[in-house]
Amino acid sequence: MNADTGNMAGGAAEMLRFDRVSVTFARSGALTRLLRIGSGSPVIAVDDVTIAVPKGGSLGIVGESGSGKSTLVRAALGLERPSAGRILLEGSELGRRRGERERRALQMVFQDPGTTLNPAHTVRATLRETLRVHRMVPRGEVDRRVDELLDLVRLPTKTAGQRPASLSGGQKQRVAIARALSLEPEILFADEATSALDVVVQAAVLDLLKELRRETGVTLVCVTHDLDLVHYVCDDVAVLQAGRLIESGRVAEVLDAPQHDYTRRLIAAAPKLKVAAT
Ligand SMILES: Nc1ncnc2c1ncn2[C@@H]1O[C@H](COP(=O)(O)OP(=O)(O)OP(=O)(O)O)[C@@H](O)[C@H]1O
Ligand SMILES: [Mg+2]
Repeated sequence: MNADTGNMAGGAAEMLRFDRVSVTFARSGALTRLLRIGSGSPVIAVDDVTIAVPKGGSLGIVGESGSGKSTLVRAALGLERPSAGRILLEGSELGRRRGERERRALQMVFQDPGTTLNPAHTVRATLRETLRVHRMVPRGEVDRRVDELLDLVRLPTKTAGQRPASLSGGQKQRVAIARALSLEPEILFADEATSALDVVVQAAVLDLLKELRRETGVTLVCVTHDLDLVHYVCDDVAVLQAGRLIESGRVAEVLDAPQHDYTRRLIAAAPKLKVAAT
């Protein structure tokens, strides 16, 4: 039942697998009708993509704008329905209807935490609500857990009393990460999660993600335009072009010795911000 035909590294257990996944969108928008373009032909946003992510691993998904990176992640989260193929979590297919455990297992940190945090709520209220709705800890332990989560993302306890408006971009992103981790996910997805932050703050949040992966064993999937980020944070990389997987493998191999012109062009186009690759 567990079709194990893939390319996973080093025999580690597999956490996530995209198995020949395609996602198509109908061209039905008002603009399309107005311009009378492409009516009838669907947009193939993700085209027959197979990628495996080992347990505790970290995958970077790269590719030019419109290459299908976000759509692939949204399909994993159950926000888009594949038109073909399957998505497997630890060998079990993730269906359309997901149970509480499956919903919790995959969490997302978005680019702009300002829009996903309730401006009226203090940080404590935000984290409390998530913990309560999902019954993560007994009632009497909710506040202790909030403090632990803030500690986990290196925010001082007093942050609990603040509202988003009084937090910096980096602090908001840490709160968003704490909220995602409060659900004890197996996989944390970050779609351009640090691209709105300035370089120094960005580096600090990336360091945090690396440390959290080490400390909690969470599997990381980062969508980014930033190849330095992939070098710094990820073990594996998948390169998408127009919905297709062009190449994938260990970061050191793919980015240092790309097999395809498209990957070489992406590397050549990347700004050379020097982040020490470790
Ligand atoms: N809801 C939708 N309806 C129709 N087309 C869509 C929808 N979402 C995405 N697309 C199309 O699917 C393709 C892939 O989009 P996607 O957002 O996944 O790209 P991306 O790689 O994340 O790009 P970016 O780097 O700009 O975020 C694009 O052609 C996009 O226009
Ligand atoms: Mg995107």
